[in-house]
Formats: sequence, structure tokens, C-alpha cells
Amino acid sequence: MKLLLAGLLALTASAQDQLPEGDGKKVVEKVCNECHGPETFTQKKRTKADWEKVIQSMVDKGAEGTDKEFDTIVAYLTKYFGKPE
Ligand code: HEC
Repeated sequence: MKLLLAGLLALTASAQDQLPEGDGKKVVEKVCNECHGPETFTQKKRTKADWEKVIQSMVDKGAEGTDKEFDTIVAYLTKYFGKPE
């Protein structure tokens, strides 16, 4: 039982570790990990415009945050998972 718990904790920790440290990481974890893990949005690099589209479509699906939080998320994702336009 103890082992199982340790395994689960390790899994949770490694899922979170996929996000690089930086301004906005906390906000991304709060807003974007509600329905799926970070692996959903760390696999593919996107331009800023594409990230804005993704985030708009997540808002349509029900993602909740303030405008300021979504701006922070776009900035974070463009910085760490961005590609040139
Ligand atoms: C209300 C639930 C919800 C929240 C919150 C949410 N998503 Fe999603 N997301 C989904 C669903 C549902 C899908 C589509 C199913 C799938 O691909 O797993 C998805 C898919 C994605 C995809 C893959 C889309 C593609 O076309 O390849 C990305 C990227 C993504 N989400 C990023 C984000 C980001 C960034 C955030 C934070 C702003 C976020 N999601 C928050 C529900 C959510």
C-alpha cells in the first residue's frame, strides 16, 4: 500500500515536472491541468497566433481564468513551446 502511494506521488511529480520553471507556470498548472495533463500541450510547438487559437478553443470548452491569466498563459507557452511565425 505504501509502495503504491509512493508510485502515485512519483507519477504526479513527474507529470508536473514536464513544465519548465518560469513566469506563468503556476497559472498554467492551475488553469490548464484541470481537464488534461501538461503532455497535451507540451508535445507540439506553436506560434503565438496558434496558441491564442488553442486557448480560445479551451475557453470554449470551459477553461476558466481571467483575461490576465490567459495573457500570462499565452506568453508562457509562446516562450517555452513557441516557434517563429
Ligand atoms: C474545461 C476543460 C479543459 C481545460 C480547462 C483545458 N483544456 Fe485543453 N483540451 C480539452 C479537451 C476536451 C481537449 C480535446 C481532447 C483531447 O485532445 O484530449 C483539449 C485539447 C487540448 C490540446 C490539443 C489540441 C490539438 O488540437 O492538438 C491542447 C494543445 C490544449 N488542450 C491546451 C490547453 C491549454 C494550454 C489549456 C489552458 C489554457 C487547456 N488546454 C485547458 C479540455 C480542456
